[in-house]
Amino acid sequence: MLAAMPGHSLQRNVPMTFSIHRRPSWAISENQATPEGVYLDRRRILQGFGLGMLTAATLAASAGVGRAQDADPTADLYPAKKNEAYKLDRPVTPEEINGHYNNFYEFGTAKDIAANAQNLVIRPWEIEIGGLVETPFTIAFDDLVRKIPLETRLYRHRCVEAWSMTVPWAGFPLKSLVALAKPQASAKFVRFETFLDPEMADGQNDFLYPWPYIEGVTIEEAGHDLAFIVTGAYDKPVAKQHGAPLRLHLPWKYGFKSIKSIRKISFVEERPIGLWEALQPSEYGFWANVNPEVPHPRWSQAMERVLDTGELVPTQLFNGYAAEVAGLYTGMDPATLYM
Ligand code: MTE
Repeated sequence: MLAAMPGHSLQRNVPMTFSIHRRPSWAISENQATPEGVYLDRRRILQGFGLGMLTAATLAASAGVGRAQDADPTADLYPAKKNEAYKLDRPVTPEEINGHYNNFYEFGTAKDIAANAQNLVIRPWEIEIGGLVETPFTIAFDDLVRKIPLETRLYRHRCVEAWSMTVPWAGFPLKSLVALAKPQASAKFVRFETFLDPEMADGQNDFLYPWPYIEGVTIEEAGHDLAFIVTGAYDKPVAKQHGAPLRLHLPWKYGFKSIKSIRKISFVEERPIGLWEALQPSEYGFWANVNPEVPHPRWSQAMERVLDTGELVPTQLFNGYAAEVAGLYTGMDPATLYM
């Protein structure tokens, strides 16, 4: 996202002129969402990623993909019942692809941090809930995940770097967690914080970044149906490189808002300043709502590269979720909403 982020190279791939061909809404017939196994072409994956020397088995093993999950005490919760209201207009990205194309700076600035992210220790894992709430409390992830029914939703995921993927996330609506926290009326924002452990996560020794990773949303955004706490993906507990044991996903915003491996959730009066905003406020703002017409200062946001196929497709306002979320921003200054 800074110079280290690949926005520069992506920019070279995005044509300067193109005709925007609006796709239908994201919510169309689910039979267009191909299950990952159906079209997964391992040879293409290996070639596409320049990993021709590796076997698919090596690739999968290094990321924990396909590894037996029987050690995970929450494995029995998956697959979670599919919520049919959340559908896609494009195929689900194969697990092997997006499990090797991640942003998790705690484990390095490269995209393939999957092997390094296996150093993340996710048991025990406690989440502190505090700030402006009735009574602050700390809860073990294994208890939290059984308090709220899990569901599976197909979501798009659009990174500010102009690539996108689609994922069958499992988890629960953030609003259910807000209800559990019982915020006071004075709470205006929800602030999320990732772990801080430079011994475990070597990227946190990089003093360029103001660790720990922090993100925030307004209390209204946190209450929106689409705001989702992810605990699983691909019918099992979410992989470490995707932010185990729990992460946020806000599908209408650029991916950097969707903080991984959450340790602390606070209800606050002041707008939280996220890691990227703290680092580069002219490039990464608080709102970060997807808008193809508002370029990043260093590259266009008009198109996006779909992971796996490499296809360039037009980006949609609010990442295709405008009908659902535009109402959250009525009357607000559009000059700030997409930054
Ligand atoms: N959360 C933490 N803690 N650390 C990170 O580096 N990267 C963000 C977001 N959440 C990040 C994070 C960015 S830039 C993106 S695009 C998404 O996670 C990537 O999620 P994925 O790797 O599961 O695709």
